[in-house]
Amino acid sequence: MRRGLQIGLLVSGVIVCALAGYWLWWALDGGPDRSRPSVGGPFELIDGDGRKVTERDFEGRHMLVYFGYTFCPDVCPTTLFNASGALDGIGPALASKVRLVFISIDPERDTPDIVKEYAAHFHPGTVGLTGTPEQVAAAARAWRIYYRKAAPEEDGSYLVDHSSILFLMDGDGRYVTHFGHEASTADMAAALKRLL
Ligand code: NI
Repeated sequence: MRRGLQIGLLVSGVIVCALAGYWLWWALDGGPDRSRPSVGGPFELIDGDGRKVTERDFEGRHMLVYFGYTFCPDVCPTTLFNASGALDGIGPALASKVRLVFISIDPERDTPDIVKEYAAHFHPGTVGLTGTPEQVAAAARAWRIYYRKAAPEEDGSYLVDHSSILFLMDGDGRYVTHFGHEASTADMAAALKRLL
């Protein structure tokens, strides 16, 4: 009886250790779906009307998330125009399930008014977001975006060096895929059609 109890305790101890080890391996390996990198997650920013916006405001909607700045001369507008073209290409019914979200990494110059005006150049429903430097830094960290202000010109203007990646997130705010600056409107439209 006593010996049976000892063996029982030993066996349950081994099972507990095995489960703990398995859980640790699973958690470190990225959880239930290892194909999804941990990109995105909770954020708090400010929209074009000066209102606080978080990831919860996009629940149930897919997002195309792009970090850039409104003074960007080339890459940002090109990527956003391509994304807008993809949304036009899939038709209004599918496009209504997606929000194109532009997040400024130049909050000093990109005030709410400016991001609002900028977003209006792209697909209808494009959301322009900015925030305090701390809010923007936190969001950029969550999406693993690099950005760095270049030395200013004599007139005080400056460029911002930044990663140019368009992220496609699903309706639960989870990463689906991403597009580099070379991605075409057709590439993006095809990925959206597969997802929606
Ligand atoms: Ni840019």
